[in-house]
Amino acid sequence: MEEDKKIIPRHVSIIMDGNGRWACERGKERVFGHAAGVESVRACTEAAVEEGVKYLSLFAFSEENWGRPEDEVHTLMELMVKAMKEELPTLMKNDVRFVVLGNRGRLSDSLNAMIDDCMQTTASNGRLTLVVFLSYSGKWDILQAAKGLLEELAGHPERKEELLGMDIMEFGKRLVTADIPDPDLIIRTSGECRLSNYMLWQAAYSEFIFTDVLWPDFRKPEFRAALAEYAKRDRRYGKVK
Ligand code: FPP
Repeated sequence: MEEDKKIIPRHVSIIMDGNGRWACERGKERVFGHAAGVESVRACTEAAVEEGVKYLSLFAFSEENWGRPEDEVHTLMELMVKAMKEELPTLMKNDVRFVVLGNRGRLSDSLNAMIDDCMQTTASNGRLTLVVFLSYSGKWDILQAAKGLLEELAGHPERKEELLGMDIMEFGKRLVTADIPDPDLIIRTSGECRLSNYMLWQAAYSEFIFTDVLWPDFRKPEFRAALAEYAKRDRRYGKVK
C-alpha cells in the first residue's frame, strides 16, 4: 500500500513565548522558564531534523527585549553562550548548520566571537539550517536594507536608474535573511496572536499557527502536531487554484 506523502514545510519559524508565565506558574523566577525553554529548542531542532524540515528559525531575542531588566538580559545572553558551547558537538553530529541573524553590533564582542566560531564550524553542514534571530526586529531589518541602498546611491550616483528599477526579489537580498527562504510556517506559543515586529517582510505569505502551549512545554509532539496542521492548509499566494 502506498504511504501518504506528507507535505513538509521547508522553513518553520517559531516565536518562542511564555517562558516567564511558565516559571511564574511554578512559583519560580522568570529565568527558570528561559532555561526550560532551551530544552524545547533542543527538542524542536531534533524533530525538525527527523521530519526533514530544511530551515528552523527561532525568535530568541528582539530589539525590544533589550528593554527588559538587566539581569534577565544578562541571563538570556549567558544561556545562548552555554547552549552554543554545549550543543556544538550535537549540531556537528546531526549535520546542522548554525546561523545567527540580527543587529549583531549590539551584542558583546565575546558573544560575537563565539557566534562566528560556531557559524564557521558548522558552515558546511547541510541537513538542517538552524537560524537564531538575536537582537532582531522586522522594522530594523527593512531600515538597514534601506540605509544600505542610500549609501550605495551616495557612493555611485550614476547607478540611480538601475537602483530605482529594483524589484521585490532584489530588495529581499538586502535583508539579513538574504540567504534563507521565507518562512512557510510561523508558530507562536503561549496564546498571543501577534507578530511582534518579527520578519515583517518575509512573512508575507507564511501560514500561522497560534497555540496556547507555553514554550517550555512545546516539545516534539507539539512540533509534529503543528506540521500536521500545516499539511492541511491550502496555500494560494493570492491566486486561484
Ligand atoms: C519569551 O518568553 C522568550 C524569550 C524572550 C526568550 C527565548 C529564549 C530562549 C528559550 C533561550 C535560549 C535560546 C536559544 C536559541 C538557545 P517571555 O519571557 O516573553 O515569557 P512571558 O511572555 O510569559 O513573560
